[in-house]
Amino acid sequence: MKYTRGELINLGTSGILHDIGKNSIPKEILDKPGKLTKEEYDCIKKHPEHGYNMIREILEIDGNTKAGVLQHHERCDGTGYPFGLKRDEISSFGKIIAVADTYDAMTTDRVYRPAFSPFEVYEYLMGDGNTKYEIDIIKKFGKCITIYPEGGLVELSDGTNAIVMKTNANNTLRPIVRNIDTNEIIDLMNDSAYRHLCIKKVV
Ligand SMILES: [Fe+2]
Repeated sequence: MKYTRGELINLGTSGILHDIGKNSIPKEILDKPGKLTKEEYDCIKKHPEHGYNMIREILEIDGNTKAGVLQHHERCDGTGYPFGLKRDEISSFGKIIAVADTYDAMTTDRVYRPAFSPFEVYEYLMGDGNTKYEIDIIKKFGKCITIYPEGGLVELSDGTNAIVMKTNANNTLRPIVRNIDTNEIIDLMNDSAYRHLCIKKVV
C-alpha cells in the first residue's frame, strides 16, 4: 500500500485493537455454540462502537487507527455495520482490517463448522472482491499469504496431480508446479501454453 513506517505502525495498532470492544459483550453471547437470536446478534454488532468509545479519547492513538476499529465490519456495498457505510465512506484501515479479519475468521475452526482452506477463503474474497471488499486490497493481501504452500499436492483443472514447486509473487494462485503424472515443470503464470490450466483444489 506504499505506507510509511509510521502508517504501518498505526495500521498494526488498529489490527491489534480492532475487536477490543468485544470486552463489553457478555461472554455467554460471544461463546454461544448455537445460532444467535436477533437480539444477541444486535448486541455483538455493537462491538466496533464499544471499541471506538474505549479509545476515542486517547490522544496517542492516531485517528486512522480509531477509524479502523470503528469500521472493520463495514462493507463496500453498504451491508456492513454499525453504520452501513458505502465504499468511499469507509477508511482504508477499515477496508484492510475487513479483509484480514474475514480471512482469519474463515480459516479458523468454529464450533458450528470446520475451518476453510486458505485457497477456499481467497477464492471467496476474490468472488466478493468488488462488492463487499476493495479488490486492490484483496490482491495485495494475496501476496502476503501462502495459498499453496511449496511442496503441497494439488489437483489441476485437467484432472492431473502436481506438486507446488515455487510461489509466483505476483500471482499466488498460479505457482510453478511439477506434474507428477508427466514429470513436467509448469509455470502456471508465465507458460503461455498452459494458460487454460489452473489449480482446482488442494489434495
Ligand atoms: Fe470485529
